[in-house]
Amino acid sequence: MQLYNRSITDSDRFWSEQAKSLLHWSRPFERVCQGNFADGDVAWFTGGTLNAAYNCVDRHLPHRAHQTALIYEGDELGEGYSLTYHQLHARVCRVANALLSMGVRRGDVVTLYMPTSPDLACAMLACARIGATHSVVFAGFSAGALRDRLAASGSRMLLTCDVGKRGGKTLELKKIVDEAVGGTDLVHHVGVFRRDPDAAQQRSEGWEESRDVDMNELLPRMRPYCAYVSMEAEDPLFILYTSGSTGKPKGLVHTTGGYLLQAAMTTKNTFDLKDGDVFGCVADVGWITGHTYCIYGPLLLGATSVLFESTPRYPHHGRYWDLIDRHRITQFYTSPTAIRTLMKFGTDKIKEYKLDSLRVLGSVGEPINPEAWTWYFKNVGHSRCTVVDTWWQTETGGHMMAPMPGMTPLKPGSCTLPVYGVQPALLDPLTGEEIEGDDVEGLLVVKRPWPGMARTIHGDHHRYMDVYFNSYRGYYATGDGARRDENGYYWITGRVDDVVNVAGHRIGTAEVESSLASHDGVSEAAVVGFPDPSKGQGLCCYVTLNMGTPSTPEFIAELKAQVRRDIGPFATPDVIVITPDLPKTRSGKIMRRILRKLAEGEPSALGDTSTLADPSVVERLVATQFWVK
Ligand code: WT7
Repeated sequence: MQLYNRSITDSDRFWSEQAKSLLHWSRPFERVCQGNFADGDVAWFTGGTLNAAYNCVDRHLPHRAHQTALIYEGDELGEGYSLTYHQLHARVCRVANALLSMGVRRGDVVTLYMPTSPDLACAMLACARIGATHSVVFAGFSAGALRDRLAASGSRMLLTCDVGKRGGKTLELKKIVDEAVGGTDLVHHVGVFRRDPDAAQQRSEGWEESRDVDMNELLPRMRPYCAYVSMEAEDPLFILYTSGSTGKPKGLVHTTGGYLLQAAMTTKNTFDLKDGDVFGCVADVGWITGHTYCIYGPLLLGATSVLFESTPRYPHHGRYWDLIDRHRITQFYTSPTAIRTLMKFGTDKIKEYKLDSLRVLGSVGEPINPEAWTWYFKNVGHSRCTVVDTWWQTETGGHMMAPMPGMTPLKPGSCTLPVYGVQPALLDPLTGEEIEGDDVEGLLVVKRPWPGMARTIHGDHHRYMDVYFNSYRGYYATGDGARRDENGYYWITGRVDDVVNVAGHRIGTAEVESSLASHDGVSEAAVVGFPDPSKGQGLCCYVTLNMGTPSTPEFIAELKAQVRRDIGPFATPDVIVITPDLPKTRSGKIMRRILRKLAEGEPSALGDTSTLADPSVVERLVATQFWVK
């Protein structure tokens, strides 16, 4: 608590100490923090230079060369391999030299469309080593979504794998890439990691000699040392796309100095990371959780990190417990959705495995209900591990609120208190005034800059200001609502904007709407979330049809397929309601609040409907008695 207070009242000194003790600087920084939210010009550690790959790998070589850096567990049980820091260094250098040989230079954006694997880790660190900015696109995205992100980031180089594997299914990644970039001049090169050694002949199909590069052939020819580039603290380290309430996905830009510090500090404090720990974050590296807590955080601290490519239920629902047991995992980090799914199977399977290596159990992605929290604590942690519910966002780079093991008293379902340097507040949505005191609820905002915050939206700083800083001047708007209880503890209540969180996947309803509306038969679409006991939320889509379009089950299936194709399988609508009209205001705005209530199964709690242009639209929707539950 004392240190937290100091991180707020004497923040420059606090962050300066943290930055010096957790990172290696090639040149020391001159200033700690400058700029502010209102001007959108925040910068940290200016004057300082450093390299992310040096910090994650090289600096551990003198004393950890033969320690395991990465444990890779593939899709099949027990399939995989480990890399020591020495081996990781050589691989990162080879990939870095390969990128250089293909013409990638400092400041270029390299897109990585790869499944969770050491190849992806090496590709990220290789980019960082030569000063290129990586843009990882989750390997569950469709060809169209990949093409959009490639084009938006201006990336000329793409790395991928021949295939990915998840839950026993094969993802034809190279084929998706061919579909995304074929016939365009978006990329100069596609580097392909072959994961299936017997599939050399696969090269023939869709292989373009002038564009495609076989990484398995190229890498052995590369030198296993590559000089690293000293980057300015504020130089971008990566871009990561995420969904917002409107428009196209936002390419959030994270910087080298500030982001790395947030990653290192929170990994250490929230997870009580110690020498010899085996850190098991089972998120996909394609999302921010994987970036920060599979790759950068643990490697910055010289830990052993587990990369898990499969799913909690493949080949059976004891997969996590087997993983923890076999690799002697000390910190395990997963999502409430996964916990709730596994709860359904009872505890018999858990008892078959030894989970005594565990010390800390993490949760991230959505609010964890007290029931799931308690189940996790009792049955996985045997009531002797700390459960850390970590609240943060792609935008924040690392944890913003989370308990510290052994220090913060826990409450099941609460992410407890802010981490060092973070000052949250609650605002009244109408007046924009700060709500003081405890036992209150409001919009969750942050009052002062923190090192890991995203600095801009790639190519659109104006949008960055609009989304995060312009609605409440002087604050960072998180888009979440929260309650502060009688002890000052925070409880996240969920998004207050048009973003839906389905099984930990963040989905902008506007993206799903535009996919649906692009179908010839569709006139208009409005998408809302509704509570789902296992996934947290599901997607409910209200659709109006063009004249002559049949509202058959086949047509509904076609619409679902369209969304899968445009965005990815994780965004598949759960429910599609065909309706003759959508409820609108007199100025023509769709009243999503009403649709949300209907989808939630609360037709009697629609609130004020006086601004509706045509109240009979709602009456008709209510009369169809469609709602979930
Ligand atoms: C949104 C951010 C941060 C990594 C994973 C998701 C929700 C995240 C929690 C939590 C309640 C949470 C919020 C947030 N969220 N963690 N512990 N308790 N809600 O990153 O895709 O950027 O989504 O996820 O609504 O705004 P993301």
